[in-house]
Amino acid sequence: MSQTSIILSCVLISIFLTNLCWASLLLVDRKNPCRAYGNASVYDITNLVKTWPVALKGTGFDGREYIYWWSCAGKTRQCEDTNTAICQQRIDEPVLRFNAGNVSPQLWFGLFNGAVVQNNLTWDIIYPNLQSDPSLIDGTGIRVTVVHFIVDPNIEKPLLTMNGENKYTEYSITVRGKCIGQPAINRTSFIQGYCDPQTGQIVPGPYMIDINA
Ligand SMILES: *[C@@H]1O[C@H](CO)[C@@H](O)[C@H](O)[C@H]1NC(C)=O
Ligand SMILES: *[C@@H]1O[C@H](CO)[C@@H](O)[C@H](O)[C@H]1NC(C)=O
Ligand SMILES: *[C@@H]1O[C@H](CO)[C@@H](O)[C@H](O)[C@H]1NC(C)=O
Repeated sequence: MSQTSIILSCVLISIFLTNLCWASLLLVDRKNPCRAYGNASVYDITNLVKTWPVALKGTGFDGREYIYWWSCAGKTRQCEDTNTAICQQRIDEPVLRFNAGNVSPQLWFGLFNGAVVQNNLTWDIIYPNLQSDPSLIDGTGIRVTVVHFIVDPNIEKPLLTMNGENKYTEYSITVRGKCIGQPAINRTSFIQGYCDPQTGQIVPGPYMIDINA
């Protein structure tokens, strides 16, 4: 990719996602799509909610009300395709459901180095659609959902907000809380891992080993 096209991509993506170009690509776990790694850090949202999918209400660009069913490991049970991470469903006509982002092409952007000691960490997961045949322009294959995570020490329980739809077919969700699966360290035991949203405890995680270190 040329420098110009990288800059252009960043500008375009920044329309609905700030800070992306200042973050790094994390490594998604090969077995658990709800977990990703940085350098000696683990991000894990498996227990962000008690049961997936979680239903979030929000407005579409067309002004209609929708339910957005999010499941970080897929199987929304609403969209047929089990590889769907976000299934958008019309409230007035529940049979109308759209895949608003797939699990398998997901990208995690966050702090790769030093995340465990960072205050008020933020990171993003982007769920693009698996692309479809460009000769069939009907909205399939062009949807994308961005989930923005903000560690906020003042919010006890994870707070999930559906921000709605940006022009065009770009959906955004914000997750805030003091314990939302972020890399963390226990200041007493010095155990490193991630903050488990259900218990508030630091769970030790396996780390990527830097083969160059
Ligand atoms: C990982 O962290 C170690 C220790 O801080 C550092 O020396 C190394 O350069 C980092 N690796 C990468 C790929 O950033
Ligand atoms: C972290 O966020 C809290 C709540 O928004 C704020 O009070 C605090 O100053 C922030 N800390 C840092 C280091 O930015
Ligand atoms: C930190 O470790 C101590 C000692 O093992 C434990 O009692 C405490 O619950 C831990 N705190 C968190 C937030 O994991």
